Amino acid sequence: MRSKIVAGNWKMNKNAAETEALLTELAAKLPDTNAQVMVAPTFVNLAGAVRSLESSVIQVIAQNMHFAESGAYTGEISADMLLSIGVETVILGHSERRAYFKEDDEILAQKVKAALDKNMKVMFCFGEELEDRKSGNHFNVVESQLKNALFSLDASAWSSIILAYEPVWAIGTGETASPEQAQEMHAFIRKTITEAYNATIAGNVSILYGGSVKPANAKEIFGKPDVDGGLIGGASLKADDFVAIIGAI
Ligand code: PGA
Repeated sequence: MRSKIVAGNWKMNKNAAETEALLTELAAKLPDTNAQVMVAPTFVNLAGAVRSLESSVIQVIAQNMHFAESGAYTGEISADMLLSIGVETVILGHSERRAYFKEDDEILAQKVKAALDKNMKVMFCFGEELEDRKSGNHFNVVESQLKNALFSLDASAWSSIILAYEPVWAIGTGETASPEQAQEMHAFIRKTITEAYNATIAGNVSILYGGSVKPANAKEIFGKPDVDGGLIGGASLKADDFVAIIGAI
């Protein structure tokens, strides 16, 4: 059985004090839910976040990591460093990492492998750009992103993978994929995984939708059968909005 998940990607927002304040508010307002709730503050605030949420069910996850174990990679963070402060899940492949930091499928495949080798969980993000959707190429793009970064993994690795479909044209733009567009793509993703592996793996992997999810549209999107939750950017920065989105699942 796959899990329901709502995760907040804070991106490059919130200093230490603001992080602390938002986490305290979130923990206090968290509704009763069967969904796993995750937040991804910036690297410098991760250790503090883990401490603040010690007695909360909210999990702290990282926004990125490097593929090397250690060494001369100035400014980078390894899996061991994350694990050493109690962070066991990492977001990889976010479209902002792909676009601004030139992380391609090959780099991402290395990162995914490095995280899994350390028994971390990976929340893998992918999704097409506007031109891909306009030209009807969105299914091909998504299939090749999955194939290049994930389909050489052993079947057993899939219990440590969470997928986040995030059409680039919907991220931070206020323009959300319709619930039907999300469902259509999520069903396609499951079909693609069934073909590459099998129906059990495809049925057990959680597939989140991301891209301008807000309290007003969350319920309809989460109501679709192949949508198992969301990766939330902007709306995860306000406790009341994030809590409302969690309540919608
Ligand atoms: P958004 O971001 O909710 O602000 O569109 C989603 C994401 O980038 O994960």
